[in-house]
Amino acid sequence: KKWEGESTPVYSSIHTINKEGIYAPTLLGSIPYMSEPEADEALEAACNAFDKGKGLWPTMKVADRIECMERFVKQMEKQRDVVVKYLMWEIGKNLPDSQKEFDRTVEYIYDTIEEYKQLDRDCAKFQKRDGVYAHIRRGPLGVVLCLGPYNYPLNETFALLIPAIIMGNSTIFKPAKHGVLLITPLLEAFKNSFPKGVVNIVFGRGREVAAPIMQSGRIDVLALIGNSKSAVALQDQHPFKNRLRLVLGLEAKNPAIVLSDADLDLTIDECIAGTLSFNGQRCTALKLVYVQEDIVAEFNKRFSERVDALKFGNPWEDGVKLTPLPEPGKPEYIQELIDDAIEKGAKILNEKGGETTENYIFPAVLYPVTKDMRVYKEEQFGPVIPVIPFKKIEEPIDDIASSNYGQQVSLFGKDIRTIAPLIDNLVNLVCRVNLNSSCQRGPDVYPFTGRKDSAVSTLSVHDALRSFSIRTFVASKDTVYNNR
Ligand code: G3H
Repeated sequence: KKWEGESTPVYSSIHTINKEGIYAPTLLGSIPYMSEPEADEALEAACNAFDKGKGLWPTMKVADRIECMERFVKQMEKQRDVVVKYLMWEIGKNLPDSQKEFDRTVEYIYDTIEEYKQLDRDCAKFQKRDGVYAHIRRGPLGVVLCLGPYNYPLNETFALLIPAIIMGNSTIFKPAKHGVLLITPLLEAFKNSFPKGVVNIVFGRGREVAAPIMQSGRIDVLALIGNSKSAVALQDQHPFKNRLRLVLGLEAKNPAIVLSDADLDLTIDECIAGTLSFNGQRCTALKLVYVQEDIVAEFNKRFSERVDALKFGNPWEDGVKLTPLPEPGKPEYIQELIDDAIEKGAKILNEKGGETTENYIFPAVLYPVTKDMRVYKEEQFGPVIPVIPFKKIEEPIDDIASSNYGQQVSLFGKDIRTIAPLIDNLVNLVCRVNLNSSCQRGPDVYPFTGRKDSAVSTLSVHDALRSFSIRTFVASKDTVYNNR
């Protein structure tokens, strides 16, 4: 629908010298300023498209839905350059990572299509038990509200949206606050590929657009990757909470455990990537680094030197690893964590640690971090690295067991006799153990989830199709019925 109302300007998170010689953000464009009436309109369109399961989309043949999705992804691929540019300007992600985010999303869509075909083949088989044939299939759940995070405004939002759509749900999707314009080059592709009402995009503030949608009680699934505060606030708006299904990817505080016999070159490479890729603004980032006492001095020295050697700059510059932070107030928040840790006895180990500019703070390696410090407890989601020494392996394990989070762990060491029982223990505390490698979500075909406050439901190409559907079946005495 052509937007004729008011618009909200969108500025870059990157500051450059403007025509007046002032170092300032750039005006990148604008998005519709939507509020409750437009949110209601989007909701109405989504409900009509699903129409209690009778709509065109949920009843469409699998092959036809696949055709729509293929049409979409082919058109999307043509927008690579412009989306990548927005990723760099809007959220400050460096060029290789922005390109990776785009390519990975395209691959995710193709993988989802293949997985959906496989799911359909599985559904074609009849099962028989006690004389009853079951024609089992997977049906959509209804109307899905999707909200993605600013750190992966394309990939993670689409990791929710694409499986929800292909399974026959209708969707309302609110782009992340930072990384919102990058959706605009894809609007035509959505419009050309899916029937009216299947994909509805709302722009605006959560309380003005997402809250009334939830309050209507007409949302069947809340799909959100972001923080639990937003997830809880949205759930609380829904008048029939028991009916609401949740697909949530939330906070984490993934630790690295570095054992005395770890290969330090490899460990440091992985810890640099794990703690500081995209400035640590990843739910999968390493947010605590436990190092066994006898190697901690060596680790700290080499790790701190490597951090100081990282290049800060604009995302499109060669070799840049550290980039401006899109969230206003983030440098101040990181500074608060640093000050609190210093007050309680930690030191900044690296020379450049804590140096600030208007929208950046250089990563600080803090040591020794203790449990009373805020940086130990809070998900920093930014460039500060707490290092914790330990004597016995039980110390980090106990901390992980008593944490509110349970997404992933990285374990660095060589002796398989020590490592094997640890892994067996850790997989019962988190959902992924990375052996001699940093924590990460990908490859996206593997399960992505968490225990405790880190996730509800599982997102992988395979699991997401199941998370956005329900297993139903037709029972009969023969195999005459087959809707395929
Ligand atoms: O913010 C959490 C993301 O899922 C992280 O994904 O590990 O591929 O960077 P990543």
